[in-house]
Amino acid sequence: MGWELPVVLIGILVIISLVLIGVEKLLGNESEKAITINGELKIPVKGEDTVLNTLAAEKIFLPSACGGKATCGFCKFKLIGADGNILPTEEPFISEEERLDGIRLSCQVKVKGDMDIEIPRELMTAKEYVTTITSIEDLTHDIKLVRFKLIDPDHIDFLPGQYIQLKVPGIDVIRAYSIASNPKIKDELELIIRLVPKGAATSFVFRALELKDKVIITGPYGDFYLREDSNRDIICIAGGSGKAPIRSILSVLADQGMTRKVKYFFGAKTKKDLYYTEEFRELEKEFPNFQYIPALSEPLPDDEWDGDVGLITEIVDKYTGDLSQAEAYLCGSPGMINACIKVLKDHDIEEENILFDSF
Ligand SMILES: Cc1cc2nc3c(=O)[nH]c(=O)nc-3n(C[C@H](O)[C@H](O)[C@H](O)COP(=O)(O)OP(=O)(O)OC[C@H]3O[C@@H](n4cnc5c(N)ncnc54)[C@H](O)[C@@H]3O)c2cc1C
Ligand code: FES
Repeated sequence: MGWELPVVLIGILVIISLVLIGVEKLLGNESEKAITINGELKIPVKGEDTVLNTLAAEKIFLPSACGGKATCGFCKFKLIGADGNILPTEEPFISEEERLDGIRLSCQVKVKGDMDIEIPRELMTAKEYVTTITSIEDLTHDIKLVRFKLIDPDHIDFLPGQYIQLKVPGIDVIRAYSIASNPKIKDELELIIRLVPKGAATSFVFRALELKDKVIITGPYGDFYLREDSNRDIICIAGGSGKAPIRSILSVLADQGMTRKVKYFFGAKTKKDLYYTEEFRELEKEFPNFQYIPALSEPLPDDEWDGDVGLITEIVDKYTGDLSQAEAYLCGSPGMINACIKVLKDHDIEEENILFDSF
């Protein structure tokens, strides 16, 4: 064999290497794109992941209670210059008005080129936190109070009424839970969690979660929070675990001396579904402006219940006068909330003064 063959082989290898470098550069250039958020923050993007995941990789956490499966509708953002087309998976969650306004689900839209997007400003402050469980207490037969100690970062700022998202350890499930504690306690969070039969997250919390377990949460999220700049009278209505954000809101009102008149209606089926009754009775004693009205829809004979009986809508109607100057905070099932909103409107409340979280 002469010298020609090795030289030819080396030449071929050099040419292949140059072609590969050229292709990589070309592809690299193609994947150079950016998301501009609220016209001020530009983040370079590689690959074609969803907007939700791309932002999460940059530590910008949009709400996503279903973990990106297009079943919660929480992860909305505005795509500037959108053509109005949406995917079939987005249709159940995007109204016609939103579609025309460029609203999309971030878990369904992939970053294929430069994008200008808008997200609520408060989401820019949502963070990921490492926590550990410091206590788990039974509040009723199907509701637990769970305390989370903030480890990294070691404190959280939130508004009374807001919620966090919890990544259930060991299973790929993310769920939203309202914060039940006072925002002045920054190194610990309390959640009130109700068991949903066969529910993925709540079954885990009830059967497997243990003290000292490490749990990742993100947040805070939500525009359901106490409007502290208002001095209107307040109506609170809750059912089940809907007591969580109301408890946080009331703790702040109590810190402020309960200067606003507050009526708090809590609907339950039987006496065994009531909890924190003593806590709110104490608040009534301390503040004449505060009234707690628990009502049972189906009290048992053994309950020996001498309080109000009926649907919470009937009880609200019974104890409520003119609400034209009032503000309402509602938390419970969508059915309960819709029915209560109707009653509140019959009492002349202004629509913009009704705040609610339904779950
Ligand atoms: C903003 C927000 C705040 C929330 N805050 C709280 C809170 O403070 N405390 C709390 O306990 N929950 C809260 N939730 C509900 C929570 O996020 C979960 O949806 C709930 O815990 C069920 O999760 P899971 O994984 O156990 O059930 P999944 O596995 O999601 O559900 C199992 C089945 O149960 C049904 N289901 C789901 N939820 C309910 C329900 N509430 N009642 C009846 N059937 C249901 C589902 O349709 C499904 O068929 C909140 C939700 C939102 C959106
Ligand atoms: S994360 Fe639930 S719909 Fe997008």
